[in-house]
Amino acid sequence: MSSFVESIIINFIFVRNNNFEAMNNFEFVNPTKLIFGKGTIAHLGKLIPIDKKIMITFGGGSVKTNGVYNQVIEALKNHNFIEFWGIEPNPKYETLLKAIHLGREEKIDMLLAVGGGSVVDGTKFIAAAIPYTQGEEWELILDNSLAKSTIPLADVITLPATGSEMNNGAVISREETKEKYPFFTDTNFPIFSILDPEVTYSLPKFQIACGVVDTYVHVVEQYLTIPVGTKLMDRWAEGILQTLIEIAPDLRKEKPNYDTMCEYMLSATMGLNGFIAMGVEQDWATHMIGHELTALHGLTHGVTLAIVYPALLRIMKEQKKIKLLQYAKRVWNVEDVDIAIEKTENFFREMGLPTRLSEVKVGDDTIEEIVRRFAERKIVLGERHNITPDVVKQILQNAK
Ligand code: NZQ
Ligand code: ZN
Repeated sequence: MSSFVESIIINFIFVRNNNFEAMNNFEFVNPTKLIFGKGTIAHLGKLIPIDKKIMITFGGGSVKTNGVYNQVIEALKNHNFIEFWGIEPNPKYETLLKAIHLGREEKIDMLLAVGGGSVVDGTKFIAAAIPYTQGEEWELILDNSLAKSTIPLADVITLPATGSEMNNGAVISREETKEKYPFFTDTNFPIFSILDPEVTYSLPKFQIACGVVDTYVHVVEQYLTIPVGTKLMDRWAEGILQTLIEIAPDLRKEKPNYDTMCEYMLSATMGLNGFIAMGVEQDWATHMIGHELTALHGLTHGVTLAIVYPALLRIMKEQKKIKLLQYAKRVWNVEDVDIAIEKTENFFREMGLPTRLSEVKVGDDTIEEIVRRFAERKIVLGERHNITPDVVKQILQNAK
């Protein structure tokens, strides 16, 4: 089982019944406090105890141009903090190591991530790695169970997409080896997350498109699998998908309104915080294949999903047919699964993303390398664990 799937299972702990006839047993916990709405960044001063030594982490500077940085600094003006800048999209282990060393030197005891999913993810790794001094920090990525403790972390999320603001996951890249792996620990949930929809106004349309597609694919990875009698989960998942489809035209406008940004932000959080994962079977093959495309070509996460997911549906259509038909009827109001798959791909295209490998100039050599990597790691993917490296090849060939 891939570490990503395994981690999801550990995250929203459920016990597999294996007969695919009934809802899986599960345990659920999500300790993150959400603070949602206009002006909520100003609450930071009260949310973080005054005696904490904070390291605030940032990306490449978008927060300086959209006013978020000033709001954070104003809210924390009486607190003791240092700043760490430069966590890049698809956060790099090499960059995060610098923050880990700084955090140890400065003896920080709280982390505040201010940025998109990459800054939050990178900060989750920093938080877990600062106390890990018994070996090389990369060991935590290869074996997540080594992460036993963490520096408390919170965030101001500026890009709705990953759900990182309310889950215990992160995805970390290593430039040196062109690898990208999930990182999950029980302790990595943010203590609190500030979600101010007004911070999303400065997002480029491309990032909004990637955020919508990422959210959409998170939901279908948990929903479009095997029917195991999860009526409530299905309705919640379909509700998020329908909300995304409904707000998409507004999101594409020059200046979407506040209510639209609220719905977008909340959909992203609800898509990957465990609330639609209770008792369901999960897929995650598209994500695992997408991570390889990013690792090898630096493609933005949402773009990889827009390319892989429609192809995966075409190849796995038979296996997914019961849920696909339900999806076709309830989400797209059609009776034909092929039309539903086509509508899914069109939706991603209408958001402005490419949906074919040829559009991003990825060819057979990359397909071969991804298949080789999965074979070497002995990875099989999908809700039935039957997406072997050969099936991955079919999916990627279909995505050309
Ligand atoms: O770095 P700055 O200057 O801040 O700019 C960022 C970055 O260039 C910019 N941005 C963020 N908020 C903005 C903004 N620009 C203007 N206005 C704002 N309000 O957007 C760019 C992309 O940011 P990034 O954080 O990389 O995007 P995203 O939130 O989509 O995160 C992607 C990463 O999350 C991982 C992905 O694999 C990828 O590495 N994921 C994390 C998951 C999780 N933690 O559970 C699950 C997901 O499936 C995903 O894999
Ligand atoms: Zn994702």
